[in-house]
Amino acid sequence: MSVSAVVLAAGKGTRMKSELPKVLHPIAGKPMVQHIIDTLGEVGAAQINLIYGHGAEQLQSALAHNSLNWCLQTEQLGTGHAVMQAVPHIQDDDDVLILVGDAPLIKAETLQSLIATKAEADLVLLTVVLDDPSGMGRIVRDGDQVKAIVEHKDASAAQRQIQEINTGIMIMGGADLKCWLGQLENNNAQQEYYLTDVIAMAAEENKVIKATQASSAVEVEGINNRVQLAKIERAYQWQQAQTLMLNGVSLADPNRIDIRGDVSTGTDVSIDVNVVLEGKVVLGSKVKIGANCILKDCEIADGTVIEAFSSIEQAVVGTDCNVGPYARLRPGSVMKAKAKVGNFVEMKKTELGEGAKANHLTYLGDATVGAGANIGAGTITCNYDGVNKFKTDIGEGAFIGSNSSLVAPVTIGKDATVGAGSVITKTVESEQLAIARGKQRNVTGWARPVKK
Ligand code: UD1
Ligand code: MG
Repeated sequence: MSVSAVVLAAGKGTRMKSELPKVLHPIAGKPMVQHIIDTLGEVGAAQINLIYGHGAEQLQSALAHNSLNWCLQTEQLGTGHAVMQAVPHIQDDDDVLILVGDAPLIKAETLQSLIATKAEADLVLLTVVLDDPSGMGRIVRDGDQVKAIVEHKDASAAQRQIQEINTGIMIMGGADLKCWLGQLENNNAQQEYYLTDVIAMAAEENKVIKATQASSAVEVEGINNRVQLAKIERAYQWQQAQTLMLNGVSLADPNRIDIRGDVSTGTDVSIDVNVVLEGKVVLGSKVKIGANCILKDCEIADGTVIEAFSSIEQAVVGTDCNVGPYARLRPGSVMKAKAKVGNFVEMKKTELGEGAKANHLTYLGDATVGAGANIGAGTITCNYDGVNKFKTDIGEGAFIGSNSSLVAPVTIGKDATVGAGSVITKTVESEQLAIARGKQRNVTGWARPVKK
């Protein structure tokens, strides 16, 4: 039996006050509905039917890389009507897992347990008990047995006292679902086709209805406005911080780290406050990250220290390196073991060899720097003529004096030396000294001008 998922995402999300459809608002940099799609991937859903309506074009482009059945709901006539749009894709012997697109923290384990429970029941609901259940559909029971879900607006005063609510997530057989959807009516307070009415139909037919509980209220909390969006973002970040700490990472403050992607870590990594990790980040053992760093799609090998305020993107940093403070490694930067990059140094498409140093105020673009080379303060690789980019090749053990411009394409040989303040436009052979600057002239007896 395969699991066919239906994700309800046709609503506008008016309370977000946004031109972006609600389900595309990001949690940890990823659209909230994408979190749900990814979780469905983890539980092995055979197909995902996405019910969409508002913001169709934006949804289709943002979610284009997924394999989805796109089910258009032109008018939003209720959650039951929404699920009807997926009927052509549903087989009778499917287990149909229905979710809402605006509750992104649902866990794979919870869905797995819902799917497992379905093996012993005809219909399984995911419920949660809330201190304040107002606005939500209430689970009406007779003893232990679930009898119905009553929407808040249709509930009696007594029913409104019920604190167990419908999360909007449920699973049932395809044949049952199609049969019940066919019987839905909209004679209720909101004149909508409520999906929740199928529970009373199932109870009437003496079907086996079970309810499993969500692990926490926040796991199933829906987002309607930006206050809730921020709350769910923080909850998600807290979960990720906890995972890191339980994996042996020291966080100076687990409330001041943001992870927008996948992070893998060795042992004894330590991370100071206000660090943002994006995309795929791999941190080796004993890596230390200083305060206010941004690391995106990068690998930092064992023992490397990234000092405060550094920005690293699509770069590979080897073992025992030092980066920053205030360093910027742009895409294509590679640092070999024990290399050092200091403050206000920018690298792009550049390899810094083993033990090489660029400690201050430097731009290295489209360059290779050999092992043990020393790049003096204020060195600039002039890699761009306004149209094309050119390479600079600096040999092993070379010493580039401060405030030099290396006009590419240019090669500096092994163990060559460039005098400070030089503008180098021609090859410097290995072990040569190149000096290319105005000659100093001293004038004796020169009188300073005086004020008139
Ligand atoms: C629904 C449930 C309620 C549950 C609550 C949990 C029903 C009738 N009620 O109420 O029992 O406690 O969720 O949050 O199911 N949607 C569509 N098309 C529509 C209507 C809704 O795609 O025609 C989508 C919305 O975009 C949203 C989801 O379905 O993602 C839920 O709709 P919403 O209007 O928020 O339902 P609630 O009134 O919150
Ligand atoms: Mg809702």
